[in-house]
Amino acid sequence: MLRRNFIFIEETDSTNTRLKEKVRRSAGPVFDVLSAARQTGGRGRQGKSFYSPAGGVYFSAAYPLTGDETNLPFFTLLSGLAAAEALQETCNIRALIKWPNDLYFHGKKLAGILTELVPSGGGNTAVVGVGLNASLQKREIPAELAHIMTSLAAEGIPSPAPESFIKAFVARLDRYVYETPALRGGGAPYAAKINERAYLNGKRVTVNFSDHTLRGTVTGVLPNGSLSLQTERGQENVTGGVVGIIEEIKN
Ligand code: BTN
Repeated sequence: MLRRNFIFIEETDSTNTRLKEKVRRSAGPVFDVLSAARQTGGRGRQGKSFYSPAGGVYFSAAYPLTGDETNLPFFTLLSGLAAAEALQETCNIRALIKWPNDLYFHGKKLAGILTELVPSGGGNTAVVGVGLNASLQKREIPAELAHIMTSLAAEGIPSPAPESFIKAFVARLDRYVYETPALRGGGAPYAAKINERAYLNGKRVTVNFSDHTLRGTVTGVLPNGSLSLQTERGQENVTGGVVGIIEEIKN
């Protein structure tokens, strides 16, 4: 069991930003888990902002790495699995994992994950941040986000105590990162678990890059963190891009 330092504060700009700063300033490895009741500058993937009013669970956890992690891009998906399992444990709901960094419930985003790397002590520390829309009421969800965003309260699900959800998440991810080969070439069993909950599998999608767009049907998530698609050219794997859903395949 790792000795984690859990810190709860009322407000900050972004728990990821604060924890990254601490890792940069620290002489030794940092194992903090920093959570805030609200964020004034919550950040998401690709420079987007993450709406973080009171009523959510916002936290970041530091993971000092050794350098042996050969499939680091899988870290965010492994975090998604830990978050989905923590929701199952604390709320008894089955959230789906939308590659690469979201949790979905009833077709809308319930949580987002942001992983950032900070050079530390000759290696890297991964700072993983999770934002869960918890007791935020339906009427509190901004109109412009209502078609893509949901919360536990909007789904009629009682919110867990933030501490319970955070500890359930961290216990799982600590195990995956430090006690299993999930990031060291042994990701296949975890990719299989992610594929059981993969929101995009079987869906026709576009993947938008700055200079081109790929179209295809999603066939699964790979243990190296890529998304695999069946396109007109055959099987193609992507590591980045923005996914849009075209239509659902009905059998
Ligand atoms: C996304 O939707 O693209 C990812 C959102 C990640 C939000 C969490 S909330 C806690 C941590 N602090 C941040 O500023 N971002 C992450």
